[in-house]
Amino acid sequence: MAGEGALIIAIDGPVGAGKSTAARLLAARLGYQHVDTGAMYRALALKAMREGVNWGDGPGLRALFERMDLAFVRGPTGQRLVVDGEDWTEAIRRPDVDRGASLVSVHPVVREVMVARQRALGAGGGIVMDGRDIGTQVFPQADVKLYLDASQEERSRRRHAEAVARGERCSLEAVQAEILSRDQRDMGRAAAPLAAAPDAVRLDTTGLPPEAVLEAMLAVVRQRQQGR
Ligand code: DC
Repeated sequence: MAGEGALIIAIDGPVGAGKSTAARLLAARLGYQHVDTGAMYRALALKAMREGVNWGDGPGLRALFERMDLAFVRGPTGQRLVVDGEDWTEAIRRPDVDRGASLVSVHPVVREVMVARQRALGAGGGIVMDGRDIGTQVFPQADVKLYLDASQEERSRRRHAEAVARGERCSLEAVQAEILSRDQRDMGRAAAPLAAAPDAVRLDTTGLPPEAVLEAMLAVVRQRQQGR
């Protein structure tokens, strides 16, 4: 379908709903760029740790982000996140960064600069962007809006399996508790809380393999293209 009009595709949903995998597969199939906005909040949380900026210091975090060079670079092993010339693709997945990203994302002054950079990245279309507020705040005019969700148990199982695959030692119960607290923070914060846009198509990914999620998303995209 690549080349049939450069759409803006927004994918939102909670932790472990399968957004990033779905967005990566959809972008690859369409020949679009994938922007994982959670990775941007993670990169800021990690940079703050390294530079001694507190996760509670909104203005300090904003100033830090404004100085950060951040790029999604396509490579032979998939897309890499490069921050100030260093490859941070793996470093931002550490468990302490999970919590930090959720904490830095509550500050309205941080979200303002994030959203501005995300809009600049997607302005030309031909983009699949995933996060929490893409269909509601970043691109309310997106051509396609998807809201992915899955049962709490399945989301916890997926996150636990990912952590184990990375060699981390953690219990399923600990992952479940962390997901619950991130859900509460992401959905309960005052600034751009996680919510489905009224015109988003909801997909429940519980029990679905990534290929089935991809097919369901492609069906929505095709429908939208036919209606244009
Ligand atoms: O999707 P993720 O787990 O990598 O996101 C990390 C944190 O960043 C998440 O807890 C909430 C925040 N986030 C956000 O507030 N808005 C986005 N568009 C993306 C992520």
